[in-house]
Amino acid sequence: MKPIRSILCPTDHSSCAHEALDDAIGLAKRFEASLTLVHVCYIPVGFYAEASVLYSDELNRGAVEAAKAELEKLKADAERELGRPVVAKVRIGPPYAEIVDEAREGAYDLIVIGTHGRTGLKHFMLGSVAERVVRLAPCRVLTVRGTTQ
Ligand SMILES: Nc1ncnc2c1ncn2[C@@H]1O[C@H](COP(=O)(O)OP(=O)(O)OP(=O)(O)O)[C@@H](O)[C@H]1O
Ligand SMILES: [Mg+2]
Repeated sequence: MKPIRSILCPTDHSSCAHEALDDAIGLAKRFEASLTLVHVCYIPVGFYAEASVLYSDELNRGAVEAAKAELEKLKADAERELGRPVVAKVRIGPPYAEIVDEAREGAYDLIVIGTHGRTGLKHFMLGSVAERVVRLAPCRVLTVRGTTQ
């Protein structure tokens, strides 16, 4: 088996993503692997009229700052649980593409991702982000089904 030295855990702060993070922490402990959290802010471009570009930039900056603050809290909880440092990254773009790019750039050995997130219809087997990550990831992907589904 290829060793698991680095784990990427994408989160949209849903309950299912939290359960995936629990597993990611457990696996990081078991394999003595590094753990990186990633949250992707999706900001649609070309949506705003030119006149409101400044306003939208302001709005976007606020959204990214809020996302960073929320992720820092999760990182602190994860570090307490794991007992060592965790890396936290916020990326901007379409979530599935940013997660796959991060996986490729960081050469992670494993992605641990929830089957569902905040926005989807629970009767689908996989949310659209998870489905595309499974299809396009350059490494192994563990999908974690939330117990509330
Ligand atoms: N913006 C995001 N940033 C980081 N991880 C994400 C993001 N969105 C989803 N994920 C990850 O993907 C998992 C599955 O979420 P996904 O978005 O695929 O399902 P959904 O929200 O139920 O459905 P959909 O988004 O297709 O309507 C989440 O538990 C989380 O691990
Ligand atoms: Mg979603």
